[in-house]
Amino acid sequence: MHDLPPETPAPELFTWEFATDPYPAYAWLREHAPVRRTTLPSGVEAWLVTRYADAKRALADPRLSKNPVHHAEHAHAKSKTGIPGERGAELMTHLLNIDPPDHTRLRRLVSQAFTPRRVAEFAPRVQELTDGLIDAFAAKGEADLIHDFAFPLPIYAICDLLGVPREDQDDFRDWAGMMIRHGGGPRGGVGRSVKKMRRYLAELIHRKRDDLGDDLISGLIRASDHGEHLTENEAAAMAFILLFAGFETTVNLVGNGVYALLRHPEQRARLQRSLDAGESGLLTTGIEELLRYDGPVELATWRYATEPVRLGGQSVAVGDPVLVVLAAADRDPERFDDPDRLDLSRGDNKHLSYGHGIHYCLGAPLARLEGQAAIGTLLTRLPDLRLAVDPSDLRWRGGLIMRGLRTLPVQFTAVRD
Ligand code: HEM
Repeated sequence: MHDLPPETPAPELFTWEFATDPYPAYAWLREHAPVRRTTLPSGVEAWLVTRYADAKRALADPRLSKNPVHHAEHAHAKSKTGIPGERGAELMTHLLNIDPPDHTRLRRLVSQAFTPRRVAEFAPRVQELTDGLIDAFAAKGEADLIHDFAFPLPIYAICDLLGVPREDQDDFRDWAGMMIRHGGGPRGGVGRSVKKMRRYLAELIHRKRDDLGDDLISGLIRASDHGEHLTENEAAAMAFILLFAGFETTVNLVGNGVYALLRHPEQRARLQRSLDAGESGLLTTGIEELLRYDGPVELATWRYATEPVRLGGQSVAVGDPVLVVLAAADRDPERFDDPDRLDLSRGDNKHLSYGHGIHYCLGAPLARLEGQAAIGTLLTRLPDLRLAVDPSDLRWRGGLIMRGLRTLPVQFTAVRD
């Protein structure tokens, strides 16, 4: 069925136009070649999976391993998680690179420390951070919402949660800035930033062993002392993946989310009315819809077939990489009514933006908290927020896995206390 010649030519992937709006190309793939072998810009070949049902199946298929040693091209491979500079073996033993039983052990450990209760208790701090960042630019009447707001918020939030002392958090901001600016490429600066971060985290873990606190790193150490073992390398890799997985994703949730609202004035006005009335229901469903409509993670991280797998009518051979295109699955008309329409009150919205199966996003409760605080507060405090440039002047960051804007210049009526 899927091998019939398509009526329209295959769209070019990974071009500049594609980065600006990949959704028409994904619609073509879903329709004509839902599981397609593709050469990526790096030269590596991988299967792209674009239909919702196939995507969900692939994300939960135990024959698709997360461990890069199963990649047929492993010997020549670069970073396989999309994490820049992440080739040092010490940082490789993290959740997104391993399978059961190691994954089960590490996930259980971190889940004991990263509980929904801990996240809920963190809500006032996230609100304080959000307000502080808006205070810093509110009187200017203009801002770059990526640089001034979406970028620092998750960095400070995760540093606080992990237990990185406040006086060291600006170093993290610098290192993370380096990673996000040059994400995807093996540049020297990125490698150096990752190395500094890694060294810092190792020292911090070491220090905390003798002085446990109420933070997540102390929680990890406590959990490992009371049950299964966690090596210091694994603890450092865990702290690193929490930072990394929770950083650029949240930047993009806020950036893509605000941008989608600015492009849909009637939806944004609806949300603003409901916030003014003190209701939170539309904000809750709205954040989920923004995640579905233009989510932060375009492609799930790499998977490799450990057995031959039939997927969407195609035969995936042992060693072949499989990339699940979350952004395409979440616009599948077989699953979502009128999928290209942004509807903040959409019910039945089981999007795949946080993944599915055993690797389902560990940080989803924190991401929801940050997204709701950031977008809700921004619209409430700066009600006439508007784009300061033409949408065609905006640029999207390169990179295979994530989808996010480089800058989001906005204007608004200056607020002076
Ligand atoms: C809107 C923001 C976020 C989105 C859209 C998102 C999305 C995702 C997705 C799609 C996965 C699964 C990847 C795969 O299966 O290939 C994932 C895993 C993960 N996420 Fe998130 N994430 C977000 C925020 C966060 C935050 C704030 C944290 C923590 C501070 C976090 C920590 C993790 C971790 C540790 C994993 C790996 C889980 C595992 O392998 O068991 N994420 N996330």
